[in-house]
Amino acid sequence: MPLKTQIAGWGMSLPATIRTNKDLENLVDTSEEWIRTRTGIRERRIAGEGETTFTLALEAARRAVDRAGITPDEIDMIIVATITPDYGFPAVANLVQDALGAANAGAFDVNAACTGFICGLAIAHGLIQSQQYRTVLLIGAETMSRIVDWTDRSTCVLFGDGAGAVVLKAGDGPHGVMSTLLRSDGAGAELLYQPGAGGRSPESTEAIEQGLQFLRMDGREVYKFAIRTMTGATNGTLARAGLEMDDIDVFIPHQANIRIIDASAEQLGLDRSKVFTNVERYGNTSAASIPIALCEAVEDGWIKPGDKVLMVAFGAGLSWGGTAMAWSAQPVGSEPAGAVPARAEASRS
Ligand code: ACO
Repeated sequence: MPLKTQIAGWGMSLPATIRTNKDLENLVDTSEEWIRTRTGIRERRIAGEGETTFTLALEAARRAVDRAGITPDEIDMIIVATITPDYGFPAVANLVQDALGAANAGAFDVNAACTGFICGLAIAHGLIQSQQYRTVLLIGAETMSRIVDWTDRSTCVLFGDGAGAVVLKAGDGPHGVMSTLLRSDGAGAELLYQPGAGGRSPESTEAIEQGLQFLRMDGREVYKFAIRTMTGATNGTLARAGLEMDDIDVFIPHQANIRIIDASAEQLGLDRSKVFTNVERYGNTSAASIPIALCEAVEDGWIKPGDKVLMVAFGAGLSWGGTAMAWSAQPVGSEPAGAVPARAEASRS
């Protein structure tokens, strides 16, 4: 009987600063109503001075490790999914490994944009099932606010910062990851990309004047791609797990736009009351979106022991994928020290 990959702990971290749609009216030619009705977003978190992808990742990781009741030296591998690392290299995962004191862990980053957490989960599942490693810390962390052009209304209103983490452990029994699915269509690479971040356009005064350091997106094309692939990824992930749509208790989609989520749910014939959303509070946090939503869904009692959970994401690459899992029957414990829900810590900018 192959080992199961089970989520033993979870944690999230969000910057305290909230930027509301109203705040954005002072930055670009937009309106609170346009943003809310076109995207479902009301506010997002913005990293402050001294906050980086690493600091958010570390805080989320500490909470997940606490919740799992393990010590850092038990971690075999640390994977950080991010497209906004602190440095070109080394990886954020190396910084987290050192700061946590995870003396026995390997570490690397995964660059798969909003599909990054799902991609990391597929890798971690492979490492655990092949019995190479038993305990993997997987983090999705982003500071999208550092790569959006705050003068471009078509993109800056969409994104936010944050991190979510899970501790994955080898286990037996009926619970854990049931299937993973990953797909790519690199022909759409330039529909959503950061042209100036790599060797093709090395940093120069000219490149900076052209704004190549900022994220660029063809919103309409990405919207159509998203609806198409959310449906495909959902059906594919279910088929691999031998599940039907009706078997799913909680659906956690990538939190990019409420219209994409609603349209996908409708196309899939999915009961909307099973769909967890928090895009209204955090915007699109890219690779952090699914682990943050997963954390909140567990903490808010949406996900109960034994539930079948489906997580589906799409993003730059173009990339998309999903994971189906049976949530552990292990009861949710009391709130560990330091795991104050981030919403309680918020302050207005
Ligand atoms: N405020 C006011 N008007 C705006 C704004 C804004 N913030 N942004 C765009 N507009 C205008 C446009 O200029 C356009 O005006 P025009 O008709 O005069 O040209 C009009 O609104 C309509 O623009 P559309 O792009 O057609 O608006 P749409 O309804 O498609 O919504 C949106 C745009 C929200 C970006 C949508 O296309 C979308 O959500 N796309 C998917 C984006 C996404 O999910 N990206 C993340 C992928 S995940 C990852 O890997 C990071």
